[in-house]
Amino acid sequence: MLYETEEAHRAVAKTARDMPPSKTDYAIDARGLHKIYRAQKGQPAKEALGGIDLRVKRGSIFALLGPNGAGKSTFINILGGLTIKSGGRVRIWGFDIDVNPREARAAIGIVPQELHIDPFFTPREILDLQAGLYGVPRRERRTDEILRLLSLEDKADAYSRTLSGGMRRRLMVMKAMVHAPPILVLDEPTAGVDIELRRQLWAHVRQMNAEGVTIILTTHYLEEAEALCDRIAIIDDGAVIAEGATSDLVGQMDAKQLVITPEARLARVPSMPPDVEARLDGEGRLRVHYHPRSVKMAVILSALSDAGVVVADMTTREPALEDLFVRLTRGAGGSDSSDGGDFFGGEI
Ligand SMILES: Nc1ncnc2c1ncn2[C@@H]1O[C@H](COP(=O)(O)OP(=O)(O)O)[C@@H](O)[C@H]1O
Ligand SMILES: [Mg+2]
Repeated sequence: MLYETEEAHRAVAKTARDMPPSKTDYAIDARGLHKIYRAQKGQPAKEALGGIDLRVKRGSIFALLGPNGAGKSTFINILGGLTIKSGGRVRIWGFDIDVNPREARAAIGIVPQELHIDPFFTPREILDLQAGLYGVPRRERRTDEILRLLSLEDKADAYSRTLSGGMRRRLMVMKAMVHAPPILVLDEPTAGVDIELRRQLWAHVRQMNAEGVTIILTTHYLEEAEALCDRIAIIDDGAVIAEGATSDLVGQMDAKQLVITPEARLARVPSMPPDVEARLDGEGRLRVHYHPRSVKMAVILSALSDAGVVVADMTTREPALEDLFVRLTRGAGGSDSSDGGDFFGGEI
């Protein structure tokens, strides 16, 4: 539950229904957002957000992508009023959370990372209860519509304890939507969820977005951000290290590595097609770096064959999110060190 008292819920729900269109193009506008968790028994203070700027356009599906501990949930929980920021400003749907907290909170529905569902209530009861807490009048309730939107009509009257994991997760999404917020935030919606359920959830998210809901989700799966989101902010250690259109960011990862073990030790690096870099490593393997969008592997292999190289073994390596992190935090362009674990220099 987001708010302490029923009155608070009521007040919020009323403003949600009376919500004027956003005064800005941004659903979320955070500036210099800062969070320090105070030191606790044995634990030192932790700066979870180091003053980040982040804007999310209305109507988008936006991913906050980053490894565990990056600060994603901290950011989300500040938006939802569950965590108090240490500094900076946040506007939700144009409302400053310090100046118009009620309107700001009414504009957003948060699906937290952990699932809490009362096993002895049915989905319909849970949604009705939540709508009641938000003070949504009966005639304005959208229980059936929400059940339909998330494909849970069949289970509307079943005990929640009989629901599968995926259904429970959808129920949490529905709870966040009873007050019809224009912004829906999903914190790690598919962590620990199998591939089939993940795809179902993606379909629901897309549908809600098509109905006009601005979606923000956190994830540590690059694939999820790539498949679902039009923009991605990569967050690491409390800082935004990259932000942009999904296609631009993924384009930065148009890089692949081939590691070739030749039959006979090579005296020198064979000549390679343009835009392909090759070097010999300490073990006599040839490491070839190329951009698969513009250079086909077959071209590289035929160049090797032309140079008389007989391939005994070959492996490829795709860049992973961590590699992008490493590259971004080291500055643009690939490093060529052979000590780190990054894509351009790492071991396989
Ligand atoms: N209540 C808390 N008290 C102290 N430290 C916290 C608390 N919540 C999170 N942290 C720390 O803040 C950092 C960011 O955590 P979190 O926002 O949960 O990251 P993410 O959601 O990206 O995994 C982590 O180092 C985490 O241990
Ligand atoms: Mg988290």
